[in-house]
Amino acid sequence: MRALELEDMEALRSYHNDPVVASLVRGWSFPISSYQQKKWYESMIVDKTNHRFAVETEEEGFIGISTLTSIDIKNRSAQQGLIIGNPDVRGRGYGLDTIMATMRYAFEELQLNRLDGDIVETNLASLHLYLKKCGWVEEGRLRQYVYRNNQYYDGIMVGILKDEYLKLCKETNYWEK
Ligand SMILES: CC(C)(COP(=O)(O)OP(=O)(O)OC[C@H]1O[C@@H](n2cnc3c(N)ncnc32)[C@H](O)[C@@H]1OP(=O)(O)O)[C@@H](O)C(=O)NCCC(=O)NCCS
Repeated sequence: MRALELEDMEALRSYHNDPVVASLVRGWSFPISSYQQKKWYESMIVDKTNHRFAVETEEEGFIGISTLTSIDIKNRSAQQGLIIGNPDVRGRGYGLDTIMATMRYAFEELQLNRLDGDIVETNLASLHLYLKKCGWVEEGRLRQYVYRNNQYYDGIMVGILKDEYLKLCKETNYWEK
């Protein structure tokens, strides 16, 4: 994971404009123009209250984005988000590595105590990844949370505490592999 560069913006824009991605995440937008994306980058680099990282591999270059937003310094929490935008590289474990690295940064560097997420009920890959592989816990269900293709879908609220992350690292020996 590294800082987002201006050169990443066209690829990032294509990820957000991808109808498949749009159907799997909660947020929504009209198609994003190059100009809007550039403006977003300019506001993002001066934003000290949210952290956004490019996900890059040696072989494929820029493949996605991981975010820590709504950082609450008193309650030590933040919202975590992830897109592995290049469909060709999904299913190779990059999602897992990115969530683990983001948690490490959030808990071991920013000293946060919990992370929050929400997952559309149809996003089975994401539910599997967060709940079965990354130690997150289902904490609630937001009924009719998102509207897609003439239908409402529930949102699954998920979260993880620092202690749970540390336990997972110990049990899986994750950082020693
Ligand atoms: C969800 C997402 C981040 C996963 O990234 P990834 O790099 O493919 O993740 P990984 O390869 O580490 O792991 C994916 C896991 O989901 C599993 N999976 C994939 N499709 C699945 C499905 N339909 N049902 C159940 N599990 C599924 C994979 O088998 C894998 O688990 P395994 O390692 O036990 O086999 C990626 O698909 C993505 O960005 N999707 C679009 C945007 C999005 O959904 N973002 C998250 C919003 S909450």
